[in-house]
Amino acid sequence: MAKNISEKIDTLRAQIRYHDRKYYVENMPEITDFAYDLLMKELEKYEKTSPHLITPDSPTQRVSGEPIPGFKSIEHRIPMLSIENTYSEQELREYDTRIRRMLKCEDPIEYVAELKIDGVAVTLWYQNGIFTQGATRGDGLRGDNITANLRTIKDIPLRFSCADNHAPPLLEIRGEIYLPNSDFQRLNQLREEEGKVRFANPRNAAAGSLKLLDPSMTAKRPLRLFAYAVGYYEGKTLVNHANCLKTIKEFGLPVNPHYQICRNMDEVVLYCNGWELKRDQLDYEVDGIVVKVNSLELQKELGATSKAPRWIVSYKYCPEEAVTKIESIRVQVGKTGTLTPVAKLQSVVLSGTTVSRATLHNFDEIERKDIRIGDVVVVQKAGEIIPQVVRVVQGNRTGEEKPCIPPVTCPACNDTVVKEDVYLRCYNPFCPAQVKRKIEYFASRKAMDIEGLGPALIEQLVDKNLIEDYADIYSLQLDDLASLDRVGEKSAQNLLNAIEKSKKRDLCNLICALGIMHVGSHAAEILAKRFNTLEKLTSATVEELEGIHAIGTIMARSIIAFFSNSQTKEIIGKLQTAGVNRKALDIDESAASPIKGKTFVLTGVLNKYSRKEVEGLIKRKGGKVTSSVSSKTDYLIVGDTPGSKLEKAKELGIAILGEGEFEKLL
Ligand code: IVH
Repeated sequence: MAKNISEKIDTLRAQIRYHDRKYYVENMPEITDFAYDLLMKELEKYEKTSPHLITPDSPTQRVSGEPIPGFKSIEHRIPMLSIENTYSEQELREYDTRIRRMLKCEDPIEYVAELKIDGVAVTLWYQNGIFTQGATRGDGLRGDNITANLRTIKDIPLRFSCADNHAPPLLEIRGEIYLPNSDFQRLNQLREEEGKVRFANPRNAAAGSLKLLDPSMTAKRPLRLFAYAVGYYEGKTLVNHANCLKTIKEFGLPVNPHYQICRNMDEVVLYCNGWELKRDQLDYEVDGIVVKVNSLELQKELGATSKAPRWIVSYKYCPEEAVTKIESIRVQVGKTGTLTPVAKLQSVVLSGTTVSRATLHNFDEIERKDIRIGDVVVVQKAGEIIPQVVRVVQGNRTGEEKPCIPPVTCPACNDTVVKEDVYLRCYNPFCPAQVKRKIEYFASRKAMDIEGLGPALIEQLVDKNLIEDYADIYSLQLDDLASLDRVGEKSAQNLLNAIEKSKKRDLCNLICALGIMHVGSHAAEILAKRFNTLEKLTSATVEELEGIHAIGTIMARSIIAFFSNSQTKEIIGKLQTAGVNRKALDIDESAASPIKGKTFVLTGVLNKYSRKEVEGLIKRKGGKVTSSVSSKTDYLIVGDTPGSKLEKAKELGIAILGEGEFEKLL
């Protein structure tokens, strides 16, 4: 029996590692996420019954251990040197001439050209194919031991995917941890919704994520790895760098697929020029090309200076930056009262688009970068659409530049502002700027989607005292709208129709539209699914809210504070009187749902929903829930510890859904 379990565990681990490799290294998944989750769950189940069989390299052991007070510093066995940089074709050719002279080599040198990923360098140690330790570069001689955090990154195999007897006794692999641009944007959006400071660029976000003291927090950041070199190694015969990359890949670590063996420096130059523009199409930041002498023998012969190996050189791309002047700095008041300084720039072309504004984020940032009105500055797009000011060109200062003093009162209402962390905030609920931003947000596409109700009209409506808050939109009359500048009778009627139509929007849109601090569209969807009606959400307790996955303490408290506010109560009363929908949409309104007309069966325990909730959701979307699996069943929803229904569904070839997949279907 015990032997059986041990064999079963080995098989499951091998299967999981195989699929990890297919997914992360080869980009060719063979099974669905759900089937993968099932394998993982099964392994967890066996390991729970036989904890003595748990090994640190088991796929279940990625996140383990408690938060730590700080990182231990460790010495690198081989120093992690830096790279000599070049910035032009000529410098690259000079490098080639120099090393050929050193090597007394008449023939062209073979190089490997690789993309230079703009992330964080790490070293990974594998003992007999098992990941044992990982560290940051640090000062090149000593780095931080970040093993626990690195273990959470799925790209890093905890064990090599080759046969055990092929794993070298000791191997050090070096690579770059990065955060894809798309994930970086999502992360920043989320941080903004949660009132946290945004990361300046994907590299900072990756570095910050690697240095979190709680590995379970790092696990939530979608960090990735490209391995690019073998450091220290024992027991493996390697002849050239391309061979090293191939070996690294065979062991199961992802290697960037775009490397190229170049027969001479001409080919390297072509490679560098080719990627200068193409790099924009990648979902990660590439700040140059790394050129490496392919032969390990020649590498050895060339050796290193105290700073960098002589066999490696980088060709740096100019960052996509532009130089322009700050004409003025305006302070914008957001819908929750945050004061954001925004620079008005002399228009300039950057990465193919004309930009005339840059966000300065907050006043601490202005002070840190010593940005003044009239300064000549370098602007850059860093993985996002709105550019930022990177630095001031100090040499251009004339002495005429004016410092930007943080306001002590709100520019819109004159109320005293309060500093909270790095942000200045206006807490006046009647502040006209906040009122206008809240109404704009209420009418925006992801909220109530009122077509035609944009900032210019809202400005007039508030300034003319026609509305005081977003609920007043619903008592507007044709005459009110027609009295506005640039609004004819026809467009006034269209606007009224759009306002009327918005009354039927789903509960998640309404929750989002309310503009509760820290609650964005994603959280609104979760809340709508959980509570079904606005009234139920209004009376939710902190404990109930905190119990929901993805709703943290800050958000829960903000929701409670919002609904207990007397002004909110008045506004919700007005929405109710106007007949605005406050329920999650029911069957009739969810016409095109893939759930409509389908029969579902549930088995096992779900994590996010109770059985009743799932049944409610399916019914509202026009589906049916039955208790046993038959040929009439369309979907089986599977939770933890599923029963015999799972086997039966497999036999009948019925589609099986995990909780996540069910949510997607919703
Ligand atoms: S090889 C001796 N290859 O660039 C250094 N580095 O500016 C060996 N980097 O610290 C590094 N992509 O973090 C190498 N394909 C690549 C790389 C790469 C990014 C980083 C690495 C290094 C930095 C130097």
